[in-house]
Amino acid sequence: MGNARKLTGAVWGLLSRTRVVSRHGVCNAPAGSSQRISAFQYQKQQFFGALEKQTSGLQFTRKASNTATTSIPLFQGSIGKAETAKLLVEKGVKAQKQVGYWLFGCSAWVFSMVIIGGVTRLTRSGLSMTDWNFLGGFPPTDSSKWEAEFEKYKASPEYKRVNKGMSIEDFKFIYWIEYGHRMWGRGLGVFFTGPFIYFLSKGYITRQLALRLGLLFGLGIGQGFVGWWMVKSGLEEPESPYRQPKVSAYRLASHLMAAFGIFSGLFWTALSVVRPESHYQGVDFVRGSAKLRKIAIPIAVLVGLTAASGAFVAGNDAGHAFNTFPLMGDTWIPDGLLELQPWSRNFFENTATVQLDHRILALTTLTSVVAMSLLARKLTLEPHIRRLINLTLGVSVLQVTLGISTLLLYVPVSLGAAHQAGALSLFASVVALLHALRKPSPAALRTLVKPL
Ligand code: HEM
Repeated sequence: MGNARKLTGAVWGLLSRTRVVSRHGVCNAPAGSSQRISAFQYQKQQFFGALEKQTSGLQFTRKASNTATTSIPLFQGSIGKAETAKLLVEKGVKAQKQVGYWLFGCSAWVFSMVIIGGVTRLTRSGLSMTDWNFLGGFPPTDSSKWEAEFEKYKASPEYKRVNKGMSIEDFKFIYWIEYGHRMWGRGLGVFFTGPFIYFLSKGYITRQLALRLGLLFGLGIGQGFVGWWMVKSGLEEPESPYRQPKVSAYRLASHLMAAFGIFSGLFWTALSVVRPESHYQGVDFVRGSAKLRKIAIPIAVLVGLTAASGAFVAGNDAGHAFNTFPLMGDTWIPDGLLELQPWSRNFFENTATVQLDHRILALTTLTSVVAMSLLARKLTLEPHIRRLINLTLGVSVLQVTLGISTLLLYVPVSLGAAHQAGALSLFASVVALLHALRKPSPAALRTLVKPL
């Protein structure tokens, strides 16, 4: 009782002489306003109002600590639903674990799809199947069916211009790779929908999660169509008789970027299922994370841009030119960077420009990640966030090393595939870092500020 009196007295004193944080900045408290309890509630409302509305947790915490946070106790009463972190899965921890594992499994499946897709491209297998249907169908089962399939391939520009005289055994090899890639994608459809329906029927999945997963499922189906749209571009006769048939670099980049998008959507959702709330030991940790988030978001964008530029390197076969590093041939900056018209085409279609772009973006990414990890040393951060920063740094160094080796060795399948896997691993570590840096819910933040 005595404590309660001290508390309201302190609040009352503060309200009459200090300024409090509001959503719009700093305003004067209503000195002498009606009852003590309403003044206290006013203070609380301003305090949490600022927390909820501020997009920058940093701004909030700085203002709060400049004012009355240390002396004003926080109201520990019932917490409104809107203030707590939203659970995506209902019916307890067991359900949460099951759904979480399933979604991590789906992300890993998409990851493997990206690698298989890379191997398909690097082994030039992607154009071996000259038609497509939604369910995929069965592969040839006897020699006459293989012959028929091979005849269809023989009519394609790739056979006529690149693989003329290929044996049926070699054809079977590239066919199986492409068939495997397509069927692995359909397998993911089954692995996704089966448990989804089961978890829905058990009532584990909230409306919000169902909508999010529905959207990701739609993107997954769309990705199948984008894949075929990409392959179709490689089955067309090239405009010039001297050019090799290959898929459009734009379509290849769309297919790869869509895969990155689907992967990160699934991975982020899986993380949100198992970790609905960010964990912080104190307000200083929230402040440190808010600072780091401001750097980590642009880095995520940079990694995405570097990956997209890599897709254009792959799509233009630019890895088979300028196989030197750091120089490009004999110079730092090769000639003819803007020779295509209009100039913007050069960034997507000109071998030299596309490769230079990719190098610059990759090295900028690495430098930014190094800078982030140096800056992070000065910040108060949770140990698991530090681990994620170290992971991101390690994967960036590995990825740049892989990229340079891929280039110097004229894109062998193993290194090309490893470089593709490295790109997605780097993206995944940045996504995990951003997830760990999420703002805490108002309710969680409230528990971090010590009561009197
Ligand atoms: C942050 C660093 C990097 C990222 C995120 C990244 C990402 C990518 C991605 C996503 C691809 C497309 C892969 C594919 O479709 O198969 C790619 C291709 C490529 N990258 Fe990088 N890359 C990075 C650094 C580098 C560096 C430093 C070099 C060399 C200077 C390099 C050289 C290449 C080459 C030659 C290819 C084409 C490989 C192929 O044809 O399969 N990369 N990169």
